[in-house]
Amino acid sequence: MLRGKKILIGITGGIAAYKIPQLIRDLTKYGANVKIVMTDSAAKFVSPLTLSTLSLNEVVAGSFPKVKSGILKANTWHINLASWANVMLIAPATANTIAKLAHGYADNAVTTLALAVRCPVLIAPSMDEDMYKHSLTERNIAILKEIGYHILEPEHGELASGLVGKGRLPSLVKIRKKLEQILSFAYQDLKGKKILVTAGPTYEPIDPVRFIGNRSSGKMGFALATAAAQRAAEVSLITGHVNLQTPKNVQRINVLTSNEMLAAVKRNIRNKDAVIMAAAVADFTPLRKEPTKIKKDNLHGTISIKLRQTKDILKYLSSKKGKFKLVGFAVETQDGVANARKKLKEKKLDMIVLNNPLERGAGFETDTNVVTIITKSGKVERLKKMSKYDVAQYILNKLSKLIN
Ligand code: CTP
Repeated sequence: MLRGKKILIGITGGIAAYKIPQLIRDLTKYGANVKIVMTDSAAKFVSPLTLSTLSLNEVVAGSFPKVKSGILKANTWHINLASWANVMLIAPATANTIAKLAHGYADNAVTTLALAVRCPVLIAPSMDEDMYKHSLTERNIAILKEIGYHILEPEHGELASGLVGKGRLPSLVKIRKKLEQILSFAYQDLKGKKILVTAGPTYEPIDPVRFIGNRSSGKMGFALATAAAQRAAEVSLITGHVNLQTPKNVQRINVLTSNEMLAAVKRNIRNKDAVIMAAAVADFTPLRKEPTKIKKDNLHGTISIKLRQTKDILKYLSSKKGKFKLVGFAVETQDGVANARKKLKEKKLDMIVLNNPLERGAGFETDTNVVTIITKSGKVERLKKMSKYDVAQYILNKLSKLIN
């Protein structure tokens, strides 16, 4: 798996940096080509000479290479290095570097490369437990996860301070296995495939300040877009109003209403290999939008708003169906499988993902989901509770077989 793979390792200034020379040795033994960039503080923990000797490559310490040769020759050495890598590992990743990465800093070789690469990035945080569990670090790691960085959680055990807690760099075998896993599914299988994902709720305006909408955080759709981009697909993400970061290498199109979503789908459907409708499109919209805010004074306690059904985007897509595969979602609170089967048939889908928001671990704001996948052939598969990201990978495994 690692033979011939190009692995870029970014080392930052944590005590666990002393383990990286052994990691380089292991990776090269498995046939990988390893290049190293490191921060100035990392160079205080482990010597660039050790790293260049083991990797057989020149090391970039600080912000600039000392000796410019080979890939580091041109002034755009960081871009050359970025496009060289199949995967980038940042280990150990300190709280400081994680904070910088989450906010787009490019002030040293590691943060610059992380910003410049298109390949998957694996972050292995390692620090004191209180720093790891600080709400700011937690928030920064959540941002990195949202945009599609892989995070290898630190382990519980004895820390450099002598305290015991969560913050140890995982074993080198675990890091290697994670790199292998990322390189296996994330690297190739959707390369060149064009995938359109919809996500989030639509807002249907009643007047300039009020709307009717669905309870949807957009997390499932964003997880799908993140995972598809990690697997090298070209992803367009049409999303209603959500509070989520745009995943890396994803083209995002913001919409508000179901009408706008339909129009955006029509504009972006050309040449797609698959469309995944994870959006919670409102089924009804006010017949008319009041041009000015409705005042309570004239209402005498009640209000009637006439609603009409929105256009079904999936139905539109199935009527236009060319070569693309179509995946729908079904939110059902009773008779799930029967209802989902009906939708699969009516909307001519290749696959439908059923979930019940009333179930534990499923629903709108959660990070986990409990889904049942039904395919055109009639096969019904109920998955155990897992993160929305893992559900997304599972769906893509199935979709990948359909479009490859
Ligand atoms: N959908 C759509 N356009 C709409 C409404 C829904 O494309 N106007 C899509 C959703 O994105 C989802 C699927 O249809 O992929 C199922 O949506 P859901 O609301 O569960 O079912 P409906 O078919 O709308 O039927 P009902 O609300 O009666 O259950």
